[in-house]
Amino acid sequence: MLSPAENERLTRVGPGTPMGRLFRRYWLPTLLAEELPDRDGAPVRVRLLGEDLVAFRDSDGVAALVGAFCPHRRAPMFFGRNEECGLRCVYHGWKFDRNGTCVDMPSEPPDSLFKTKVTIDAYPTWEGGGMIWAYLGPPELKPEPPGHELVRTPATHRHVSKSFEECNFLQALEGGIDPTHASIMHNMNIGDRSFLNNYDELVANIQLDKTDYGFTYAGIRKLTNNTWVRGYHYIMPSFHMRATVEGPFGRRADGPTIDGHIWIPIDDEHTWVYSFGYSHDPARPLELDKVRARDTRLGRGDFLDKNYRSRLNKANDYEIDRQVQKEKTMTGIQGINTQDLALQEGMGPIVDRSQEHLGTTDRAIITLRQVLTETLDSLERGGPLRALDPATYRNIRSFDRLIDGDAEWRAATKTDLTTKF
Ligand code: FES
Ligand SMILES: [Fe+2]
Repeated sequence: MLSPAENERLTRVGPGTPMGRLFRRYWLPTLLAEELPDRDGAPVRVRLLGEDLVAFRDSDGVAALVGAFCPHRRAPMFFGRNEECGLRCVYHGWKFDRNGTCVDMPSEPPDSLFKTKVTIDAYPTWEGGGMIWAYLGPPELKPEPPGHELVRTPATHRHVSKSFEECNFLQALEGGIDPTHASIMHNMNIGDRSFLNNYDELVANIQLDKTDYGFTYAGIRKLTNNTWVRGYHYIMPSFHMRATVEGPFGRRADGPTIDGHIWIPIDDEHTWVYSFGYSHDPARPLELDKVRARDTRLGRGDFLDKNYRSRLNKANDYEIDRQVQKEKTMTGIQGINTQDLALQEGMGPIVDRSQEHLGTTDRAIITLRQVLTETLDSLERGGPLRALDPATYRNIRSFDRLIDGDAEWRAATKTDLTTKF
């Protein structure tokens, strides 16, 4: 439970807000690289941390991110011409390069110096992991580019997609890091209600360690002959990774071994969810056609339209099937991701955390809020920020393993943690 003031502090992301200032200290995924396929191609609208922007790939092939409105009379740059290393506003022809410099002002006399005095807001970008990242913070504080194993993985070994979510980033992120709901909400076979008999086994014992990059935690389930450990990492500000390697339910031979999400605030009440999967084994690339085909529907009945929005959404109650809910699945909603959407969006744009009652299996969520609060306090004191230095998380990897029944999970999984890319 949080006080209303604490809830505001952790959820608002606009310019000048505490969390908005924190997000602005990190590189953030801003578009999929596939959204800007061509040099001098069509500009794309971007809304990030409550700021309206326009992205374009310039003649050098570099992704540019500039203010959405022309500084002359605020015409929309989205309708601009992307030409010779700059975006030209089509209203009166002012043209800006990727650094925000005005490089042409045909509406003023040729000898006018006015163009040297006008700039458009522009943010630096960096490409990696199939994504275009941007840094919206103070230029003098710009950190090194991201260092996740994901961004070092070659394109043959990874898959990244994104989807729109109509709620604040924090409740989406809290849903993603919560290992407990998976056994309950995502239960797809409750027909004989046997899951209720297995309830004690399916709810994991959660153990956590705070780290320099955020925190790591394990969901530990005692099975008959051994112990199943799923190890997760949360990397500031909103990156989460988990693994599907060896757990009792196995994995697809052609699929990723590591997967996760990055939750990026569009504004206070809307979020982009980047979903990634990769093979951490250099000798085993992904069968990308199969992975993509599954991802289009997320293999489980989720459908995204060309704007990366789910066809099953709030407007149609996610097409919940009450008969299926009675007979077969916990939710009656198709698709794991759609189930998450339904519950997280259904909490409202920003959930009122002063009304919650957190229990023992909510420890990951409690720790997340502590880590965010501690880091906001540090930001306000001018102290260090978790995960600002990529060295703090460069060599971590999530895991999913069966270990001997009485082994200590930290020791037993040490060798799983070394990255190979
Ligand atoms: S409004 Fe853009 S050039 Fe005039
Ligand atoms: Fe979920």
